[in-house]
Amino acid sequence: MKKFIVCITGASGAIYGVRLVEELSKKHFVYLIVSNNGYVVLDREMGIKKEDFVKKLNKNIKLFQPYDIAASIASGSRVIETEGVIIAPCSLGTLSAVANGLSQNLIHRVADVALKERKKLFLLIREMPLSLVHIENMKKVTMAGGIVSVASPGFYHKPKTVEDIVNFVVGKILDSFGVEHSLYKRWRSDED
Ligand SMILES: Cc1cc2nc3c(=O)[nH]c(=O)nc-3n(C[C@H](O)[C@H](O)[C@H](O)COP(=O)(O)O)c2cc1C
Repeated sequence: MKKFIVCITGASGAIYGVRLVEELSKKHFVYLIVSNNGYVVLDREMGIKKEDFVKKLNKNIKLFQPYDIAASIASGSRVIETEGVIIAPCSLGTLSAVANGLSQNLIHRVADVALKERKKLFLLIREMPLSLVHIENMKKVTMAGGIVSVASPGFYHKPKTVEDIVNFVVGKILDSFGVEHSLYKRWRSDED
């Protein structure tokens, strides 16, 4: 059983984080952090209140509070035991904090630790259009070793539902971590 740190922030697309945690926790262990604004968007977009969200987490998920900067996973020795950190969705505010090493909450801290320990860090940004500030912050994180992606579903698998579109994006994150899944059909050209 592999371990992952998953963070959900207050960008639109809470469903990406929820789906990712559902999928990962089927076979793996997930340390989960939801920012305060992440809970706000979870409620706005999915009608899920914090209390209900917390109650429904399965036994393979351990939830941390974003202000709990003394949590075990704030330390390098715990982060290196994991496959890495995924922030999905990642707000531009959190992107900026990570790019500039602010470490003002537990999400920023685990991302900072992942970079310093050379563990995998995946940021799923959700915004359009982007300013140069955002692009510069993405560049900084990329140059520090992180993987930055703007949620960008493909349509070659002919999605029919929102779930199909979400599964495509989540599947791409899992691909990046080498996690097996059947969330979307991979592209096969006619020559294959
Ligand atoms: C309904 C809603 C949708 C939002 N969508 C986005 C978004 O797509 N991208 C983004 O960067 N911020 C978005 N925000 C703003 C962030 O929640 C805000 O910048 C917040 O400070 C992020 O904090 P966090 O990164 O600690 O969660 C949204 C806010 C709300 C209430």
